[in-house]
Amino acid sequence: MTDPAPSLGKDLVGLENLTAGQILAILDTAEPFKEISERRIKKVPVLRGKTIVNLFFEASTRTRISFEFAEKRLSADTVNISSTGSSVAKGETLVDTARNLEAMRIDMVVIRHGASGAAHFLADRIPSNVVNAGDGWHEHPTQGLLDLLTIRDHRGGIDGLKVCIVGDILHSRVARSNIYGLRALGAEVAICGPKTLLPPAPEELGCIVFPRVEEAIEWADVVNVLRLQLERMEAGYVPSLREYNRIWGVSKRRLQAAPKDLLILHPGPMNRGVEIDSDVADGEHSVILNQVTNGVAVRMAVLYLLAGGQPEKAEAAKQGAEA
Ligand code: CP
Repeated sequence: MTDPAPSLGKDLVGLENLTAGQILAILDTAEPFKEISERRIKKVPVLRGKTIVNLFFEASTRTRISFEFAEKRLSADTVNISSTGSSVAKGETLVDTARNLEAMRIDMVVIRHGASGAAHFLADRIPSNVVNAGDGWHEHPTQGLLDLLTIRDHRGGIDGLKVCIVGDILHSRVARSNIYGLRALGAEVAICGPKTLLPPAPEELGCIVFPRVEEAIEWADVVNVLRLQLERMEAGYVPSLREYNRIWGVSKRRLQAAPKDLLILHPGPMNRGVEIDSDVADGEHSVILNQVTNGVAVRMAVLYLLAGGQPEKAEAAKQGAEA
């Protein structure tokens, strides 16, 4: 008899402290769930009776909507709250907001917040499951997981792959979740970008640093391009967006020396013509929309596992069993 897959515990706050076994359990659970979104009636009763609150204090298109689709496709009841239009705008604290939601007997909270550590803070203070949908510069674990799933779909596995993350690494929660997840599964990880946008001690993250984007592209099996997080920069990290594109932009010309099966990822939203040119974003190497599709399945998997579902029962859940 094989050992059961390791449980995720109460919350998903980041990938830093997950084992390879836990990460693979999420990816393997997402696999059967992909098919639900291809059905005419995209609904299974897996989370029937569960109430999930999506608490988004920062803007989001992909993450917020794909969590909502994941919840609805698993038959959970969902409520969306943003800072504008809720009593947060009147000064109510995060923990008071959450306690009031708890008083209405919720089961899970999905939170996006501008403060690094906000998801952890909440997870320690409420009994509901907490899922981090991006907290400040810290982590964006479900983005890291959907990136891993997309790479695995196209390359068959992660172990031994060379993955370079190009762009604004310093401000990027996506970069951190990618680095932790990729390294846990045995990939070699490099980073590349202007010195002002790299973390102060990249070696502590276990990353190689490429000073030139051309070298990074030549080395890599996968390039994950990140946008400049203009909203997190006070000033002066790059001379101008035009200059950034000229030196660091991922362009068709720069991909000429790339291997045919190079994968280009981008978490979105893209600044076309800044960190990535349109003919790359829409070109033969791009798997950017596959990432978005996988986002729904990965988020279904995370919600199912946190609700007590087991990876080995995901196939049965897909056919109609509850978690
Ligand atoms: N990748 C990502 O987090 O996109 P959104 O900000 O649109 O959710």
